[in-house]
Amino acid sequence: MKATCYGKIYRIIKRLMDEGKDRFIIYPFGERGRLVKRVLNESFGITEQYLFDKVASEDTSCRVFAINQADGMDLNGCTVLLASDNPNIYSDVRHQAIVSFSFEAIVDLFSPSFFYDPEVYYDTSYYSKELPSYTRYSLCESCMKEIYAKGIKGAVAELGVLKGEFANIMSMCFPERKLYLFDTFEGVKEEELPREEAEMWDAMQLKTASRYFRNVPEVETILRNIAWRDHAIVKKGFFPDTVKGDEKLAEESFCLVDVDMGFYEPTKAALNYFYDKLAPGGYMFIDDVRHKGVYSVRQAFEEFCEEKKPGYSTIQYADVGLAVVSKPYHK
Ligand SMILES: C[S@@+](CC[C@H](N)C(=O)[O-])C[C@H]1O[C@@H](n2cnc3c(N)ncnc32)[C@H](O)[C@@H]1O
Repeated sequence: MKATCYGKIYRIIKRLMDEGKDRFIIYPFGERGRLVKRVLNESFGITEQYLFDKVASEDTSCRVFAINQADGMDLNGCTVLLASDNPNIYSDVRHQAIVSFSFEAIVDLFSPSFFYDPEVYYDTSYYSKELPSYTRYSLCESCMKEIYAKGIKGAVAELGVLKGEFANIMSMCFPERKLYLFDTFEGVKEEELPREEAEMWDAMQLKTASRYFRNVPEVETILRNIAWRDHAIVKKGFFPDTVKGDEKLAEESFCLVDVDMGFYEPTKAALNYFYDKLAPGGYMFIDDVRHKGVYSVRQAFEEFCEEKKPGYSTIQYADVGLAVVSKPYHK
């Protein structure tokens, strides 16, 4: 176990050094932090610039600064090695790191997240800026930064998962949070749709979508593509039926919810259900609010806005449009 961990840390630092980085900070300085220090000192002959932990300490071999001392220190050009794989403190460590250091300087040694991981390297620059999905992906990343920076707790959910592409982005952004996945996981058959739903779609769009929705892989296959699938909670079936009688879910609060089902009834139900469960400072994305050819989501969203009067903004991209609703945040 130790050897694998040592090797992993070694590979990341080697890669960073190949990129020209040579000034490192280690935070936090627990068991993993000590191992990172050993790798730096012994394998690379480098002494770290600073060590940070929750509280300051000093012994003959090293001085550890309290994380709240970082503000005001000159840390320019330093790379912060985030050295914790303890899921119980992950949110707090991440929060502290974001508020104490520059986001771009942080390298998360143990998480396949947007912070960096050599095995599952992933960040929004990986996507072509031309790709329509890029807008959603980078929006998810921005909200994630806000959520961790403000210390907002709560689970993450997607309604309408299809093959799990965006669910995976959410998982990457929120590796330690519960990720609720709502879908029939069997698509939605056009002939089973109530007439009112079908009429809110352009006929050709509906044919294409229902063919597309039908071609859904098994849940297990979808889960294999999700980075932190151990945290995923699959809610298979028609929403909102799938929330009925779920007491654990009833107690849950959410920091980010993506609503992407395409139909009026479930969208309206999801907006009402999840807006109430959104933590202060949390976000809800509503896909397709400006879709040319799908009017169901727009109608559900407009009614919801009329009733709940949430703060929101819309972003037009690739003929579909996305709305971002946010819940007021007070410190
Ligand atoms: C546009 S796709 C979702 C795409 C996905 N969010 C992404 O970005 O990768 C819509 C999905 O919503 C699901 N869906 C539609 N109505 C639903 C309902 N009432 N309950 C559960 N799932 C539903 C369909 O099965 C389909 O997989």
